[in-house]
Amino acid sequence: MAVILGEVLANRDKYVVAVGGDLRMVGSARELHTDLDQHPQEDLVIIGPDVDISAAADTAIRYRASRPSLGMVLVRRRLEVSTLNQALRSGIREVVGIDDTTELLGACNRSIALSRELRSHSDVSTPASKGHIVIVFSAKGGCGKTTISSNLAAAIRERTGQTVALVDFDLQFGDIGVALQLEPTRSIADAIGMHANLDAQGVQSMLIEYRPGLDVLLAPLHPSDVEHISADMAQQVLTHLQYSHDWVVVDSPPAFTEVVLRTFDMADEFVLLTTLDMPAIKNLKVTMDTLDALAMPRDKWHVLVNRSDARMGLSVEDVEKAIGLSVNNKIASSNDVPMSINSGEILFLSKPKHVVSREIAQLATDVTEKYSKAAGNEKPGLLARVRGAR
Ligand SMILES: Nc1ncnc2c1ncn2[C@@H]1O[C@H](COP(=O)(O)OP(=O)(O)OP(=O)(O)O)[C@@H](O)[C@H]1O
Ligand SMILES: [Mg+2]
Repeated sequence: MAVILGEVLANRDKYVVAVGGDLRMVGSARELHTDLDQHPQEDLVIIGPDVDISAAADTAIRYRASRPSLGMVLVRRRLEVSTLNQALRSGIREVVGIDDTTELLGACNRSIALSRELRSHSDVSTPASKGHIVIVFSAKGGCGKTTISSNLAAAIRERTGQTVALVDFDLQFGDIGVALQLEPTRSIADAIGMHANLDAQGVQSMLIEYRPGLDVLLAPLHPSDVEHISADMAQQVLTHLQYSHDWVVVDSPPAFTEVVLRTFDMADEFVLLTTLDMPAIKNLKVTMDTLDALAMPRDKWHVLVNRSDARMGLSVEDVEKAIGLSVNNKIASSNDVPMSINSGEILFLSKPKHVVSREIAQLATDVTEKYSKAAGNEKPGLLARVRGAR
């Protein structure tokens, strides 16, 4: 059994010789991600010759810590030293030439044998269940991303009893630390010094506990650190958090940065914000077009109008007409929102009966609904307990 990334169907037979007929072929990293989620026992990924080396390395990095029993074999038209180096650094197990079927067979067999050996050690026999990522985004600034992401994180924690990590990926101007009055003793900037050793423990050491079961990963304190935080690093952080927390809620900057795009790529649910003003609505439309162009599935989208009762000459219906889609959630405007931020509180926690808190609770239900259904009668917080996390 194996899955092949980025290879054309016509070449399938070449691989059948090496791994047998039980093969699946996927065209993109995203499809691979979905496929591997559906096949938790899969041991082998063959990366085809047309996938460029950086994308191949990214794929290997994505799984090397979270799913160490999964082996990657890279197929190349020409074997070059620089390719070998990059491949091995990323955790790809073998690199073989496209025309060498015997070597491909050998590489696949060696990788499968190693995977079986790793699986025989109980702690990697099956990958732990993964937490879900929610990104809160608007391309226009000031629409309420930070307000909604922090309230949503608290609401998911309270309503599901599951563990939540709130991540500030507004790397340059992140203000979750200020909004929650957290002392910035740790932040994602700590990852810079860890380089290739950014492991699960390293990520845990960057978190600040806001309250039990609700951890926060702050943006760097110094803007100069931002340039050292790459999309790969962000991806590694999110991957580790997915294995330590049931939910990862990501606050974002008002721009499609590399880190934001990578987060969208990994996220299970998107909360797309607008307010009732033309620039915000226009930017929501641009966001939707961009996500469509990137083939981001629409069943992940939750369109949310913040300050939906503000009298600004436009209504929620006007938004729906402009974007050609129904609005899923609304959050009222209230002075209690800035007041809660000024006192370092999350409104959902300090005033759970407030109209804004009730609407946030509805958002939390909508975002988590399909997973609680999928999990059937799974007890709240089970995932965290199984992992013996924190
Ligand atoms: N529903 C609301 N009612 C009243 N005020 C709100 C509401 N939502 C957000 N605000 C206020 O709007 C301002 C911007 O909110 P917030 O910081 O959450 O937006 P943002 O999208 O994160 O901004 P940025 O793009 O700068 O990061 C804040 O002062 C916040 O208190
Ligand atoms: Mg913000």
